Amino acid sequence: MASDGFDKLYHEKPRRKRGIAQRVSIWFASLNPYRAQRRNYRRLWIPIFLILALWVGFKGFGVIFGNSQDRKVRKTRQWFKDRLIPGAVDDLPLDTPPRYFDLYEEQRNLPQHNLSLPYPEGATGRYVKFTSQINMLGWNNVFNELLMLNYLAYKSKRAYVFQDYVWKMDYFPWEEYMAWTVHARTPLPALIAGPTAGGPWPAGDPAPRSVHQDFWDIVCPPERVKVIWTHHVKKEFDLHWTPTSKFIFEKWNKVLLDDTAKCIEVIAPQRDIEDFGQVFDLWLWGSDRILPMWEELRDSPVSQLLATSPLIQRAVDRNMHLFKSEVTVHKDPFDQVFAVHVRRGDYEGACMNLAQWNSTFYSWNQLPYLPDRFTPPPGGIPGNNTKENIEFYFNRCLPNVDQIIKRINGARDDWEKEMFGVVVPGHFLNTLYILTNDKTSWMTDFKARLINEFGWKVVTSNDITFGNAQEKDVGMALDMEFARKAAIFLGNGWSSFTSNILHRRLVDKKIPISNRFF
Ligand SMILES: *[C@@H]1O[C@H](CO)[C@@H](O)[C@H](O)[C@H]1NC(C)=O
Ligand SMILES: *[C@@H]1O[C@H](CO)[C@@H](O)[C@H](O)[C@H]1NC(C)=O
Ligand SMILES: *[C@@H]1O[C@H](CO)[C@@H](O)[C@H](O)[C@H]1NC(C)=O
Repeated sequence: MASDGFDKLYHEKPRRKRGIAQRVSIWFASLNPYRAQRRNYRRLWIPIFLILALWVGFKGFGVIFGNSQDRKVRKTRQWFKDRLIPGAVDDLPLDTPPRYFDLYEEQRNLPQHNLSLPYPEGATGRYVKFTSQINMLGWNNVFNELLMLNYLAYKSKRAYVFQDYVWKMDYFPWEEYMAWTVHARTPLPALIAGPTAGGPWPAGDPAPRSVHQDFWDIVCPPERVKVIWTHHVKKEFDLHWTPTSKFIFEKWNKVLLDDTAKCIEVIAPQRDIEDFGQVFDLWLWGSDRILPMWEELRDSPVSQLLATSPLIQRAVDRNMHLFKSEVTVHKDPFDQVFAVHVRRGDYEGACMNLAQWNSTFYSWNQLPYLPDRFTPPPGGIPGNNTKENIEFYFNRCLPNVDQIIKRINGARDDWEKEMFGVVVPGHFLNTLYILTNDKTSWMTDFKARLINEFGWKVVTSNDITFGNAQEKDVGMALDMEFARKAAIFLGNGWSSFTSNILHRRLVDKKIPISNRFF
């Protein structure tokens, strides 16, 4: 038997082709280090290469065609898509947040990003960066502070260092995991144009232009930076709680103007030291102490040169047809548009909070010459208002359908009386634009009533189409632009969205009766 097997192996098999298993076993045997000869190592590379290639192919397939939510995998996938899908680098697909390659490039190339420029710009220029400015909040809570800080920098003869808008992720138009950075960012020139986002000052004005935070890192390396803490300045000049915006502005202006340091960074303390450590904090914006700065800010080049970003202008033009009618073909269609900001369900908790804490209107919504003022009613204690007072708040903060319709039609009639002496038969204002994030049947029913019972032509935020992901990204600012252009705007007095629309409407010299609150 044994010799039989021996014969088979040595006299029959060699004539036949080797099987795979046999080849593998022979190959493994060849790896035996005691038997290894130089040429055996060369054989090793072939299978290693094959396994690697398979692995890369397999992984690559998963990366490109999979749907992993891992940020790194997504970035790699996008890198391939950018090269395979036409228009991907230009942010055309709406299902992917924009990268803004073009805008970041434009921003880098701003003429003021140049170290050779003479004082007060360039390497020897004067700069202030407000790292303290509020972040990760809705765009509108950020926006009003940026304008005020830009004006403070201007009056302090320093270049304002503008920063990307950092999203509060609840409001981001895509899923949180899709953001390219943690947290998602949008370059400021996507949202606004004008000096705050790097635009020029009026001709002949020697003020240094705003620079982007990346340029600050170059021109103001850490060893050149003088740090100022907001809570130190607030304490030194007693700026908490009671002083007016003008007083606060003047104190800061003196600090930043008199200092000879070229690079100043203003930093807010951690929240356990101070809840709202901004130079112009939320307590100030939510009280009438903000009002004394109004005229000055309105007439400043910061407000006068504040403009619609080219991106938003393109989106406006794309949607202009929604507002046109036979009567407006040769005119600005917005002359006959009434814009209304309808906050819905998500505002219920907010309204209750406002009522319990006796809140006044927000910021410029409190200007005394506007119609529809709101005065907190007497009674109740802070944090626990009376039942009647809470109802009083809800009538203004979260009105029901009948109340909303009555306010819209009433505001139209008031405006027509002021403009033409009478309520125009058949009405001059014929198109209603509803700014809303509500996509429920409530909105459908509301819309139907306005059309069928009151003859309005209705357009809503849900009808707006975006040409690319950048336009979708700035959707809220696009809505604000429509409201800014409308003949009448009816908003919510407690909302910063409303107050920033109002800001531009008043700079545009829209008359008081065209700026209404529920
Ligand atoms: C930078 O500024 C200097 C001085 O004004 C100018 O000569 C130069 O052309 C500028 N460089 C660029 C890239 O614009
Ligand atoms: C609200 O303010 C009014 C007037 O200042 C005051 O009389 C009332 O007690 C306050 N109510 C609450 C709930 O704080
Ligand atoms: C709020 O005030 C009412 C009286 O106005 C009182 O009955 C109630 O207990 C108070 N609630 C809280 C939580 O303090």
